[in-house]
Order: sequence, then structure tokens, then C-alpha cells
Amino acid sequence: MEEEKKLPVHVSIIMDGNGRWAKERGQERIHGHFEGVASVRACAEEAARQGIRYLSLFAFSEENWNRPGAEVGALMELMGKSVCDEEKTLMDNNMRFLVLGNRARLSAGLEAAIRALEEKTAANTGTTLVVFLSYSGKWDLLQAARRMAAAGDDDLEKYLVTAGVPDPDLIIRTSGEQRLSNFLLWQAAYAELLFVDKYWPDFREADFRAALEEFAKRDRRYGKVK
Ligand code: IPE
Ligand code: IPE
Ligand code: MG
Repeated sequence: MEEEKKLPVHVSIIMDGNGRWAKERGQERIHGHFEGVASVRACAEEAARQGIRYLSLFAFSEENWNRPGAEVGALMELMGKSVCDEEKTLMDNNMRFLVLGNRARLSAGLEAAIRALEEKTAANTGTTLVVFLSYSGKWDLLQAARRMAAAGDDDLEKYLVTAGVPDPDLIIRTSGEQRLSNFLLWQAAYAELLFVDKYWPDFREADFRAALEEFAKRDRRYGKVK
């Protein structure tokens, strides 16, 4: 009997290379971010088609606040615009939307727009699209440890911002860099890692499907002997 194709429950993507994509075309970095939104839409729709339960995207790290103010401002504006523009994509695909990270650092306007979209999509039952915004793995561990200590508890996972979201089975990073850049440090413990040479704006449906094919070939042992 043919073995059933192994599908990851949670696919996570470190969307990298927008700036270099733009630079190669003699454009400002922000144009790479604009084009990256089309890749987000393409991958979200493909994840929904493939029946992936969770697609998470690393969109902005705590360290990214240290970029030049103009780029940070443009990125935040783009986040706000995308949150409004993509409501239809999410609703048409029965997708739930969730933002995780240090949300206290977001502007009141962006926070309100995010909250409205989370509420609007809360009852959708298809793929959950998680966007990590103002997120870092060390920040997450620290805030979890603080809250855990205050509660006198010892179940750290319960206090991570990802509580309730299964750990990623597959983490893809685009742009050729082979590092986690302070992404999901605890949650990535047994994730399969896939590094793709393409810049994020060039990563589309076919690349997402190819990543799923690659995942299906991996042999996950979790420290045991098979
Ligand atoms: C990823 O692309 C998007 C963010 C980190 C916000 P970059 O902006 O990091 O693009 P490169 O890596 O400089 O090319
Ligand atoms: C990681 O990309 C963060 C996101 C994709 C949001 P960076 O471009 O910030 O990472 P480094 O600086 O290359 O490690
Ligand atoms: Mg980068």
C-alpha cells in the first residue's frame, strides 16, 4: 500500500530577502516589501488549498525596530494596509488570522485594525494564518518565564505567546541565509528546517508545494531509534 503523504500541521516561514530583491532591480528596499505581500497571499492561498492547519509568517522581529525609521514606518504602514486589503482573501479561504508578538509596541491604529481582523475571522475553520510581528524568541521566553514565576507554575509552554498553536513541523527560510534570527527558539526544537535560495518576493505557490514535497521525504525520529 502506498504510504499516505506526510503533511505538516504547521508550516512556518522566515520571509527574508525583500531588500536584496529590490536592490538587484535598482529599487528602494520598500518595493521588495510591497512585492513580498503578493508572496504572502500566494502562500496563504496555497496553504488553504493544501489543507495546512497553521501557516505562520515571521514578518517583523524585535530587532527589526532597529532599522532606519523610514523603513520601519513604511513597513508598519504596509502591515496596516495589508490587514485591511487581505480581509477578503482570508474570508474567501475560510482562514483565521492571528498576530503574535510584543503587540504593546505596535501603534494603536495598527493594533485596532489587527484586532478587528482577528475578531472578523475568529469563527473561520480552515487554515490559521499566524503573523509574527514585533516577535523574538528570547523575548517570548523571557515574558513566559516572568509570567510563569509570578503564577508559581512550571508549565512554560502555557505562557509562550504561541500557547495553543502546535510547534512548527517545518520552518522555511528564504534568501539563502541559514539561521533562525531569534525566531521560535523553544518551539523550533524538532522542526524540520528548509533553506531556500530564492528571495521572498520570488517565493510563490510552486515553491510552497515543493517545500511540502521536501518535508514528506524527511525522516523525523525525535531522538528515538526507528
Ligand atoms: C525580510 O526582508 C523582511 C523583514 C525582515 C521585515 P529583509 O528586509 O530582511 O530583506 P534583506 O534580507 O535585507 O534582503
Ligand atoms: C529575520 O530577518 C526577521 C524576519 C524575516 C522578519 P532579518 O533580515 O531581520 O534577519 P538577519 O538580520 O539577516 O539575521
Ligand atoms: Mg533580511
